[in-house]
Amino acid sequence: KRDEYILAIETSCDETAVAIVQNGTELVANVVASQIDSHKRFGGVVPEIASRHHVEQITIVIEEALKQAEMTMDDVDAVAVTEGPGLVGALLIGVNAAKALAFAHQKPLIGVHHIAGHIYANRLEEEFQFPLLSLVVSGGHTELILMKEHGSFEVIGETRDDAAGEAYDKVARTLHLPYPGGPQIDQLAHQGEVSIDFPRAWLEEGSFDFSFSGLKSSVINTLHNAKQKGITHKPEDVAASFQASVVDVLATKTYKAAKQYNVKQVIVAGGVAANKGLRTKLTKQFANEAITLLIPPLALCTDNAAMIGAAASIAYQQGHRAGWDLNGNPSLTL
Ligand code: KG4
Ligand code: ZN
Repeated sequence: KRDEYILAIETSCDETAVAIVQNGTELVANVVASQIDSHKRFGGVVPEIASRHHVEQITIVIEEALKQAEMTMDDVDAVAVTEGPGLVGALLIGVNAAKALAFAHQKPLIGVHHIAGHIYANRLEEEFQFPLLSLVVSGGHTELILMKEHGSFEVIGETRDDAAGEAYDKVARTLHLPYPGGPQIDQLAHQGEVSIDFPRAWLEEGSFDFSFSGLKSSVINTLHNAKQKGITHKPEDVAASFQASVVDVLATKTYKAAKQYNVKQVIVAGGVAANKGLRTKLTKQFANEAITLLIPPLALCTDNAAMIGAAASIAYQQGHRAGWDLNGNPSLTL
């Protein structure tokens, strides 16, 4: 059987990324051009700046990926691209680049959901075993997703307000830490002590939904009240206490859902999967269980195109093809 090569493009937020994935599981090229430095001084991603950078970078990054793989478009079987969700202007750059490339070289085109990509990043490391549960935690998402087979996604819990990464970034801003705040807080948390009892939103009995806006407000109020009373909390302790609350809720709900749905694997995906506190707690929880915990290496946790290629391979084999009318969809559902 001959090998299958998919060239994948991801431009949903602030990384211009192109990868070439072999048979859905092997990385032959992985290029990520990050724009973080351009957005840092604004304290977050500025959509207009993101789109402009994608336009400048996309052809360079495509060429770089082909060069890394020592391939031409003749060797590629299909072109895949993130069609949503994300920033509409940013998505459009990737979608149009993918359409142009596929059309010019007469290759099939595949649209991929960004979150399916985050989940499938794990398949570059280990084969899936169903049923599996995926905790997707990023700047825009906090979801528990049950998969009974390839390409099928059932959302069993999701955030009712802020995403976990969003809460990290907002609390970081309150602590005057640079964007993106997640890695900064994670690092500080390991130098501090859990000295403040921040709330944990468990919600109704049996619910796998999340809520982080109350926690975020509690951090802001605590710091504000302390300032008025002339008390100072060490930023390390605020970070440690905030992280303890987030990680407690994420890990506990994931554990309960994994048991309830009797899954074989638990997969952690998205930018917040890079969090050391979360990785440690989940590893401990599943250590004595007949459930395999998969957490991708750091480089595959944050946005990249390798994960889009991995998800696209399944869609390709299942016969899914996008038409030339494929469009960026900022609120695409799984
Ligand atoms: O998946 P991602 O790269 O982009 C989105 O699709 O949103 O996730 C980015 C998010 C940001 O909110 C960032 O602060 C968070 O992931 N993040 C972390 C860590 N590394 C990245 N949050 C907590 N701890 C980390 N180590
Ligand atoms: Zn993402």
